[in-house]
Amino acid sequence: MTESVGDAVEAIVLVGGKGTRLRPLTLSAPKPMLPTAGVPFLTHLLSRIRAAGIRHVILGTSYQAEVFSEHFGDGAALGLELDYVVEDEPLGTGGAIGNVRHLLRGDTAMIFNGDILTGCDLTGLLDEHRRTGADVTLHLTTVDDPRAFGCVPTDGDGRVTAFLEKDPNPVTDQINAGTYVFARAVVEAIPSGRPVSVEHETFPGLLADGARVTGYLDTSYWRDLGKPADFVAGSADLVRGIAPTEALPGPTGEALVLPGAKVADGAILTGGATVGRYCVVEAGAVIDGSVLFDGVRVAAGATVRDSIVGRNAVVGAGTVLDTVVIGDRAVLGSGIELLAGARVWPDVELPDGSVRFSADS
Ligand code: GTP
Repeated sequence: MTESVGDAVEAIVLVGGKGTRLRPLTLSAPKPMLPTAGVPFLTHLLSRIRAAGIRHVILGTSYQAEVFSEHFGDGAALGLELDYVVEDEPLGTGGAIGNVRHLLRGDTAMIFNGDILTGCDLTGLLDEHRRTGADVTLHLTTVDDPRAFGCVPTDGDGRVTAFLEKDPNPVTDQINAGTYVFARAVVEAIPSGRPVSVEHETFPGLLADGARVTGYLDTSYWRDLGKPADFVAGSADLVRGIAPTEALPGPTGEALVLPGAKVADGAILTGGATVGRYCVVEAGAVIDGSVLFDGVRVAAGATVRDSIVGRNAVVGAGTVLDTVVIGDRAVLGSGIELLAGARVWPDVELPDGSVRFSADS
């Protein structure tokens, strides 16, 4: 980022979703509060917002709203001024934006989905918004396989021409990357008192009304952390310094080991793994590209690859976990093999050798 966007702009961060795709981890904490490279994901996002020079940040909360204010308070520790607005019933991504209108001070707001990890140049995004005099400017990125996304085509002037639903033959590889600049009048025009989707109602409605909607194409690092595989990959990229943050609690490298953790000689930590506070990793264990929340115990010879292991869970000796999610306090015995998207709910106990994907126990 080249320069600060300054005090004239404030931020709205949407953090009220239930995070169902990350269950069971999101049963005990909202998605933006899950530890990602050693701190709640939201800390990384707030650090980027602060680095862009924004001070006033409004969090639109709903699901487990109190967790945010208990952790971040008034935001002073991060150099921010934080406000919280709670939706009794989730108002959707658009309704959540309209719902904070009474706290806006200026004429421009930057809006962030609370689960996007990106190196988007926020100053460039704002400059483009001002240059074109747009009502809304969206960060657009490109993806290899746009069939899984709604696409956002633009004309030669960068003006958005349509918001297209998922299509087997997409006309562009540009997608909505989940960071926007809104003129205040657009925030104020969002209907109140009912759920509104910014993607499905507000944006198409603006185009239909002839509003100026600009796309800002920035293909720097981008990942939506909503699914387990992306959550793990995003955390590993933060640890290795591939994804940008000002909030990594340690040097970048192959692994991040938090204070109080004990890692035996002969254990292997690699691929951007995070070992949480007071974890124990015994000899011969391999932790590869995974996130161990606080207090996890991984016994001798176990392998944990591309997986998330919840708080105080136990992984038995020689057990293999690959691309799985383990809930808080689950106890996995020895000689277990869990692969390919398996999810174990909190407090479940699996006896030694009780689940395998292969016959070679
Ligand atoms: P899934 O249930 O796994 O789809 O996750 P989610 O509930 O977080 O939904 P999604 O990933 O589509 O949401 C994108 C961003 O918007 C996330 O940061 C959510 O926290 C946020 N969000 C989604 N719905 C609401 C809502 O009704 N109110 C508020 N304040 N934020 C929301």
